[in-house]
This record gives sequence, structure tokens and C-alpha cells, in this order.
Amino acid sequence: MKKIAIACDHGGYPLKLAVLRHLEKQGYEYEDFGCDSTDSVDYPDYGVPACEAVVSGRCERAILICGTGVGMSMCANKVHGIRAACCSDTFSARMTRLHNDANVLCFGARVVGEGLALDMVDLFLQTEFLGGYHCGRIEKMMKIEK
Ligand code: RB5
Repeated sequence: MKKIAIACDHGGYPLKLAVLRHLEKQGYEYEDFGCDSTDSVDYPDYGVPACEAVVSGRCERAILICGTGVGMSMCANKVHGIRAACCSDTFSARMTRLHNDANVLCFGARVVGEGLALDMVDLFLQTEFLGGYHCGRIEKMMKIEK
């Protein structure tokens, strides 16, 4: 797999550090788009550049972490070419790859614990899109951008 883009806001920063350690252990290459502390920042400033790296092809998928995962996922889904899923369970993290070909996973550091977050990351990165009849649905979804 190509590089993983990762970004967070202040609410997601401590959990992002755990995700980065986990990605390193698993041998994934990543590009960290910030932020770099728990000082208050605006999540669009970090999430959007990470999504743009996915759309440009520099990174294959992105992981975005804020307090709830909601703000990051709203921003991500406004970037053309992004299909972001805000998840707080492993079933959704796996299914959004299988059925939606999601290219961005968002979650909230104030919602999920570290263990669940890392399991979701593993499933999101290891699960391949099923294709087949799901392709037509995704084509219809992506047409909305146009
Ligand atoms: C920051 O306080 C918080 O609003 C942000 O992390 C996120 O949860 C927004 O959706």
C-alpha cells in the first residue's frame, strides 16, 4: 500500500500518537498533516490537506481524528473524490471498505478508546473493496459531486 495520510485536531492529538506508533509497528509509511499538540486548532485546516493528498494520489487512504470524528468527516466529504466514513465500531470500519470503498476513516478520540481505534484502523487498511454491484452505487454517489 502507498502512504497513509493522517491528521487530527487538538482533541484527536493524543490518540493520533497511538495510531502513528501502531502504523510504524505494522510497517506502514505515513504522512502526518498535523496538528502537533493539544493547543486548540480548527480541524478543517488539518483534515482537508490530508484528503487532498488522497485525491492527488500521493497517499492511498487517510485517517482523521478529532473529538467526535464528525467535524473531520464533514470536511472530508466536501473534498471531491473523498468517501469518508465516521466510525465508532469495527463492523462499520470493515463494511465501509467492502461496500463503500471508503478512502478516509474518521473517528472521535472522545468517543472511542485506543484499542477500538487501532482495531478499526487495521480493518480499514486491510479490507479490500468488494467491487461488483457496489460499483454502480458508488458511481451514483460520486456523480452527486458533479
Ligand atoms: C473540538 O473541540 C471539537 O469540536 C472537534 O474536535 C470535533 O469534535 C468536531 O467535530
